[in-house]
Amino acid sequence: MPPSPPQDAPSNDTTRSASAIVDELRSTFDEHFDPAERSDPGAITVAYAPGRVSLIGGHTDYNDGFVLPTTIDRAIFVALRRRSDAMVHLCSLNMEEAVAYALHDPPFDDLPGWAQYAAGVAQELRQQTDIPSGFEGVIYGNVPIGAGLSSSAALEVAVALGLDALFGLDLDATATARLCQTVEHQYAGVECGIMDQMAARLGRSGHALALDCRTLDVEHVPLPLDDAALVIADSRVSRELADSKYNERRAECEKAVAFFRQFDHQVKALRDVTPALLEGHGARLPDHIHRRARHVVRENERVRAGVDQLRRHQLEGFGRLMDASHRSLRDDYAVSTSELDALVEAAQATPGVFGARMTGAGFGGCIVCLVRSDAVAALRQRLTDRYVESFGRVPGLYTVQRNLEATVC
Ligand code: GLA
Repeated sequence: MPPSPPQDAPSNDTTRSASAIVDELRSTFDEHFDPAERSDPGAITVAYAPGRVSLIGGHTDYNDGFVLPTTIDRAIFVALRRRSDAMVHLCSLNMEEAVAYALHDPPFDDLPGWAQYAAGVAQELRQQTDIPSGFEGVIYGNVPIGAGLSSSAALEVAVALGLDALFGLDLDATATARLCQTVEHQYAGVECGIMDQMAARLGRSGHALALDCRTLDVEHVPLPLDDAALVIADSRVSRELADSKYNERRAECEKAVAFFRQFDHQVKALRDVTPALLEGHGARLPDHIHRRARHVVRENERVRAGVDQLRRHQLEGFGRLMDASHRSLRDDYAVSTSELDALVEAAQATPGVFGARMTGAGFGGCIVCLVRSDAVAALRQRLTDRYVESFGRVPGLYTVQRNLEATVC
């Protein structure tokens, strides 16, 4: 396919502060609803949850393994108010769409995608607890949609947090992440792991989130972004294939698990396959299944090593692990694209870059680079030049210096 002509779209890197967005949602809330319909106007609750990048640990979460995501400085915001009836009225400022339906009977098939997520969260909550009335809400986000930065997990978590605060549900944080993962499985049809929802709910400003996806134990590891930054480059390649290929990778991992269980019945997931077991028997698997297993086993080791490097503020060592993670995702797990590879190579060749890798599910989406602050401008320029030269268009670029955490205001 010939490269498309250069796009004029700006490499949008500036975003308003979360508090400015919260204030605006509050002050403009009434404009979106008909006051005549409300008998009992109550307080407005605003909640937001951030998008995430995975620093290391690709495709390990659904193998019961280890991950190390961090949140970004962009979020999905939800402003909510109780209604005196049992109706739900929601509008999305990004999509310029509004929906209205009965809380007890959401017409899922007729709702647009963003509203399905919101209705799915409420529906799952209703299975566990009583939501005593309808509600109305305004949703706005500045997490790029469909770029692999988990805008959907951010939306789910923001809605769950908002409803929790609005109705005093007293939800546990980990249980909230699990509930949101269920919504993704049931209403979006993607058998995702737990990383995105845990990151959106439990990620902390100034930290990365070391997560054991089997036990759901978390450690908040300081991410020293004083002299360093994260630069995210969006390949802007459509992720159409992502869902089907994602489910295919999961199935391949299950085949590998069944194979290794013959030699050790304790193997329940690829997390349990030791390097020795892999070395001893892996070569008897079909080549592509062997590669998938090798990626997961070694990636789990890299995450543990990476957490250790980060605890010791060793960004050089951490960056080398990011580079190795990308090679493994490209060569063994086969989820990268030529666009992502070109961006990663351009980043790795830039002085001051500690490391770079694709992030998220792959088949399009973004890369993440850990870079010295004084090299950010040069990196952004090089990523743009390289992308225009090879693919005839500019990447989306986002520099993260201060990440957000899920908040109720
Ligand atoms: C997507 C999924 C996550 C995780 C990553 C790959 O983001 O939603 O659960 O599997 O891909 O690491």
